[in-house]
Amino acid sequence: MGVKIVETALRDGHQSLFATRMNTEEVLLALKELDQVGYHAIEIWGGATFDACLRFLDEDPWERLRAAKKVCKNTKLQMLFRGQNILGYRHYADDVVEKFVQKSLKNGIDIIRIFDALNDVRNLECAVKATKKYGGECQIALSYTTSPVHTIEYYVGLAKRIEEMGADSICIKDMAGVLLPKDAYELIKALKANTKLPIELHSHCTGGLCEMTYLKAIEAGVDIVDCALSPLSGGTSQPCTESLNFALRGTPYDPKLNTTMLNEAAAKMAKVRAKYLGNGLLNPKVLSVNANIITYQVPGGMLSNLINQLKQQGAENRLDEVLAEVPNVRKDLGYPPLVTPLSQMVGTQAVLNVLNGERYKMVPKEINEYLHGRYGASPAPVNEEIRRKIIGDDPVITYRPADDLKPEFADLKAKYKGVAKSEEDVLSIALFGDVAIKYLEKRNAESKPTVIKVEA
Ligand code: CO
Repeated sequence: MGVKIVETALRDGHQSLFATRMNTEEVLLALKELDQVGYHAIEIWGGATFDACLRFLDEDPWERLRAAKKVCKNTKLQMLFRGQNILGYRHYADDVVEKFVQKSLKNGIDIIRIFDALNDVRNLECAVKATKKYGGECQIALSYTTSPVHTIEYYVGLAKRIEEMGADSICIKDMAGVLLPKDAYELIKALKANTKLPIELHSHCTGGLCEMTYLKAIEAGVDIVDCALSPLSGGTSQPCTESLNFALRGTPYDPKLNTTMLNEAAAKMAKVRAKYLGNGLLNPKVLSVNANIITYQVPGGMLSNLINQLKQQGAENRLDEVLAEVPNVRKDLGYPPLVTPLSQMVGTQAVLNVLNGERYKMVPKEINEYLHGRYGASPAPVNEEIRRKIIGDDPVITYRPADDLKPEFADLKAKYKGVAKSEEDVLSIALFGDVAIKYLEKRNAESKPTVIKVEA
């Protein structure tokens, strides 16, 4: 059987290329065609898509999901879920995690891809259990990074635990696009030899490696790869779906996608790309290869954040120093993978260390919490000298961070019964607070429900 493809244009594609600004009408524009392509799944939802709906687009993310489900009859819809952080940036109580999973599945999600920035499986447990309980397909993603502790043995050990937890499949989540072709081959061979679960690979073209990495992964037996339709592919996004489909023609890996439907969908989505190129939200810079990320091992988004932070301080000329400091901070913190929220935390600390002329003179609240164990276990032990400098003799927790959190949902439901018209609305508030409340008040005042045009 051929390799399976997950289409990412409607989630990671526009998230990577133009800050997740595609509105629901644009997300639905070619969905009918995409539904007939023959994908394993279409990724449609995640933290940034949810956040951008409420914050920038005045749209209800739940409404987008329901509308997509109406159009997408043949293909599974997939979402990305940050473990105990759900779609937000802090740990939530178990009841909110469970309710969010339940409602995501009820409103149209079929596959939930769950990951934790630190690969601390305790932070995955609640979401995994809930996904199984409510009949969803549960994929657990390994946050991929390189470090002395992130060896093939480490990932195999993690994969075995994931299999025991009851996952239906495993994804290697290479958010920074730093997985080298040879390493992908060896990693996937090892995972296939040690688990029975289907293996999926998710990477980014940022460093110019991804198509090569995918090909080696496919030769090693990867079951599924993530690709984006041509108008939303390449650059900081995923490899092009149509091209990979051609590349594998005449091989045992042929995904056998429907090229007519791919072309029709691509023609429609090309207009969306043109719009965002025209209005400047899609900066041609993100479309070119940035091989530096392989050296620095930082995700493309983190690199542009660092540049922005330095610009604001009038210290753009110190980028090289900051990039050199990033691996030192990572080492001090026990080599966390650079994915949300750790990428922002490590980046900010590196900037502070360089600009203040003294390391850890200033420390953001999040790093302080991290050193108390509040994000979970670090992959390797943290630098104790640094920890003592920052938190002194404070106790460090070794249990699951969410064990300290009392149930939140019932209180929120009661507190916001005026503005929240459904449990989905309560969840929007639970995750995005004032941003969600502001949107809901506006929506409620407009009295008419959001009507979304769907092409027949
Ligand atoms: Co990604």
